[in-house]
Amino acid sequence: MTPEVASQKSEALCTLAPVIPVLVLNDPDIAQDLARALVKGGLPVLEVTLRTPKALEVIAQMAKVGGGVVGAGSLLTPEHVTAAVQAGARFGVSPGSTARLLEACEAADLPLLPGAATASEAMALLERGYRVQKFFPAEINGGAAALKAIGAPIPQVRFCPTGGVSLKNAGDYLGLDNVLCVGGSWVAPADLIAAKDWDAIAELAAQAAALPR
Ligand code: 3PG
Repeated sequence: MTPEVASQKSEALCTLAPVIPVLVLNDPDIAQDLARALVKGGLPVLEVTLRTPKALEVIAQMAKVGGGVVGAGSLLTPEHVTAAVQAGARFGVSPGSTARLLEACEAADLPLLPGAATASEAMALLERGYRVQKFFPAEINGGAAALKAIGAPIPQVRFCPTGGVSLKNAGDYLGLDNVLCVGGSWVAPADLIAAKDWDAIAELAAQAAALPR
């Protein structure tokens, strides 16, 4: 898959809902329940970070939930890409980018939302054909003001900012011309997952899904 096609697919995913939940989960047994709650609340695009030993099993379970589109986050290596595709991930997200990672996603036909934190990183990805990128880590890199400033000279790149995004500041990002959606873990907090409070998580998802953009 070319970077241009990957960008088209990323753009389509990023326009399905204003928020992509960033999920850190190590229990495949509750993965479907969590995915169902988020989809029910109106957030169909789910990013499962490869940061727990059982993240791939979680992806495989969530991929069975109707109405959802499950991807793998925290992709760092070609091995991660292969494993994510095998588990059923339909897109990938990475905190930054390397040539090896980009090549692996392109070869595996996995649409990638690659991370950039500076104008030079965004330009390098754009030069390769990636016009949809993740701005990471968003808040400590200057937040919405920084992303707005990057958008002035590089308006052709559109972003999904993540890292420190919450219900409180999501609107600042979503109001920008160069933001398609935001990503964040606040819609699936660890305490509500531990309590298996799926109704509360569906409610947080509904709040997020109602954010204007
Ligand atoms: C991440 O990769 O951890 C995401 O950017 C989510 O960040 P958050 O936990 O601050 O929402």
